[in-house]
Amino acid sequence: MPDPIPSLLDALRSALGPAGLLTDPADTAAYAEDWRRLYQGHARAVIRPSDTAQVATAMRLCAEAGVPVVPQGGNTSMVGGATPDADGSEVVLSLARLNRVREVDARDLTMTLEAGVTLKAAQDSAAASGCLLGLSISSEGSAQIGGVLATNAGGNNTVRYGNARDLVLGLEVVLADGSVWNGLRRLRKDNTGYALRQLFVGSEGTLGIITAAVLKLAPRPRETAVALCAAASPEAALALFGRFQAYDPGAIQAFEYMSGQGMGFVLRHIPGAVLPLARPADHYVLVELATPRQDGGLRAGLEAVLEAALESGLIADAAIAESDAQRAAIWRLREEHSEAQKREGASVKNDVSVPVSAVPDFIAAATAACAALMPGIRAVPFGHLGDGNIHFNLEQPEGADPAWFLAQDHAIMDTVNAVVRRFDGSFSAEHGVGRLKPYMMPAWRGGAELETMRRIKAALDPRGLLNPGKVLP
Ligand code: MLT
Ligand code: ZN
Repeated sequence: MPDPIPSLLDALRSALGPAGLLTDPADTAAYAEDWRRLYQGHARAVIRPSDTAQVATAMRLCAEAGVPVVPQGGNTSMVGGATPDADGSEVVLSLARLNRVREVDARDLTMTLEAGVTLKAAQDSAAASGCLLGLSISSEGSAQIGGVLATNAGGNNTVRYGNARDLVLGLEVVLADGSVWNGLRRLRKDNTGYALRQLFVGSEGTLGIITAAVLKLAPRPRETAVALCAAASPEAALALFGRFQAYDPGAIQAFEYMSGQGMGFVLRHIPGAVLPLARPADHYVLVELATPRQDGGLRAGLEAVLEAALESGLIADAAIAESDAQRAAIWRLREEHSEAQKREGASVKNDVSVPVSAVPDFIAAATAACAALMPGIRAVPFGHLGDGNIHFNLEQPEGADPAWFLAQDHAIMDTVNAVVRRFDGSFSAEHGVGRLKPYMMPAWRGGAELETMRRIKAALDPRGLLNPGKVLP
């Protein structure tokens, strides 16, 4: 069979103009490798449409040529979800140029924006209208709305506002054949048939390409209070969460757990990172409270809960942010966890969830199971304790060969997942399945569930041209 790509590229070039297509390997290389550097792919071209009509044209041309397309936003996937194959048979479609915020409506509390807007830019534009976009992830400076929705991102504020899925009112999607579904409705209630938008959210680019969305906003907080605490144990961290829920469940904006191991990596590898506590601890909690009320009294509430927790020994120390700069510095200790782990050496990530009440027992059991599997392995549990999503990451033993360690990723992930299963958890809470974890699907989602997913895929993308090799085994 002749190579269909050269004539496809000619057609794309004349339809999209020179700015719409990259083919020089020097320009395409960055699109072919994932953030974790687990996959080195080969993108024969990177299509860069400037609007929805161009995405539709590009998809139609790719479908006619039978060439598979890998949609890509900020390329921050933790599971290789946006990386092309290495054999050069695929093209990448970048949504980066669809980067307009079309509207923010402070009365309806909605925003309509395009797929290539970064999450940070979306947050800033909501804030400029006195609103809050209740979604925050460590990669928000690069991650783009299209990818955030396609992967149903979670993050630090899920405990309050839910996942990306919970924030979507409407979507615009280009389908595998190039047709466009305009579902950019901004209704709070709409009960007209299947909720198609929820099918595309979390489909990781395998069912269609999200080009624009309507998101729900919240009123912007008028008062925010943040503290970093040295917790006695994961059990104590969970008990502290219970104390804040008893104080005001609606005020909890984030409740994050970190281990001494992970914090140690941050303090060692991230320039300018400073622990605002008297001494390092084995366990930490970052709590953020927020309210849109004018005189919410949050600061007093935070102090009262923390004082009582100090007295009963749940925490040994706490630092309350006194300024925006201190608040940002505390958050940085949490947000740089992944970067610090990368600098420490090779790591295997397990983005798992268990019922919130099971988090301490899960951490203990998974730590023991991994130590039994590999002496010297370093467990780095951290993450979103308030919603039961723990990043149970494993760092290579000190001095071990990174390649040797990574070659055992399946054994390590399977060991952790066996523990997750005992707690009726999930093997992927927010990172998705991507290219790294489809092999887990039969054991976890097999039978009628996986079969239904296959039928949906076959109905929407019968030729398998959208993000091949991702999600479904
Ligand atoms: C985070 O919450 O910082 C990321 O999802 C974490 C990771 O697994 O590295
Ligand atoms: Zn996370």
